[in-house]
Amino acid sequence: MPDPGKAFTQKLTDLVPEFERALDQVSSLKDLEDLRVKYLGRKGLLAAKLASLPTLPPKDRPLAGKTANQIKSELQGLFLKRRSSLEGARADATLARFDPAMPGRTPNLGSLHPVTLVTEEICSVFRGLGFEIVTGPEVETDFYNFEALNIPPEHPARDMQDTLFITDSVVLRTHTSSLQIRTMQKRKPPVAAVAPGKVYRRDSDLTHTPMFHQIEGFLVDRDASMAELRGTLTSFLQQTFGPDTKVRFRPSFFPFTEPSAEVDISCMMCKGKGTVKGKTCRVCKQTGWVEILGCGMIDPEVFKAVGYDPDAYSGFAFGLGVERVAMLKYGIGDLRMFFENDVRFLRQFA
Ligand code: PHE
Repeated sequence: MPDPGKAFTQKLTDLVPEFERALDQVSSLKDLEDLRVKYLGRKGLLAAKLASLPTLPPKDRPLAGKTANQIKSELQGLFLKRRSSLEGARADATLARFDPAMPGRTPNLGSLHPVTLVTEEICSVFRGLGFEIVTGPEVETDFYNFEALNIPPEHPARDMQDTLFITDSVVLRTHTSSLQIRTMQKRKPPVAAVAPGKVYRRDSDLTHTPMFHQIEGFLVDRDASMAELRGTLTSFLQQTFGPDTKVRFRPSFFPFTEPSAEVDISCMMCKGKGTVKGKTCRVCKQTGWVEILGCGMIDPEVFKAVGYDPDAYSGFAFGLGVERVAMLKYGIGDLRMFFENDVRFLRQFA
């Protein structure tokens, strides 16, 4: 007569070596999970065998139940052991693929455009000298771009700047001098401001682009003088091009300043000598000087246009090209570099 209790526990105990063999065959976590479901799942082999427990004679049940619990935890222990060894193998495989000698992936850092860099640098020098920063529209009326600056219609001075027209009386501003007018209209003296921005001229060749950048500066007070203009510009130019930079003023003409001057600085390439290693300096063409900006004492006609009393106030103004400053400062030979957006060029300013 077979012993139903013994038969029951034997069937359960047989599961252990069977499960062990199956675990040995498994090579992935996915297969392992399938195997766990097959043996330990709610409808798995273990559960199927346990289902006959209630049919055992009552005296056999306590031992059978205890054995069942032992087998179950033994199977679970085997499963967990196999799982951690498979996980370890996977981590090892990942590590084996990791090569610490490979060059890293460097993120591409953006950088400011040289025109932006130079604009910010110049503005910060003038901020240090007590000037405020102002900006205004690039599409400008004839009044702000010309008339208020003592350039009447039909005046030959209009030929100095080849203009792009939107309509007969609306233009793309040809210079940032329009900001002199806009700022003076809004403010009472004393006022000192610099105005950076884009300007447009009908011009395109090796040394001219239809759009470029200027910085305008001006100061109006009770008795602003040419000496102050000279001192201000000398300080600015020496801060920008180096403390040994020499500055000279040449008489010139602008409709909105009187007297007017053009300012040269000693050539930063040849240090004013005119030659580099016995050869003609390509930057100053052997003169030792390079032209850097235009300036002058604000013309009384300009004060009249904005409603300032020309007998009570005087002032000075200056304007410079940002690309030109950047070319001289960084030794850039070709104006077009600024607008081609070649990253090999731009990256050098990062
Ligand atoms: N606006 C002039 C130009 O674009 C420069 C300038 C500004 C000259 C202020 C004198 C005073 O050429």
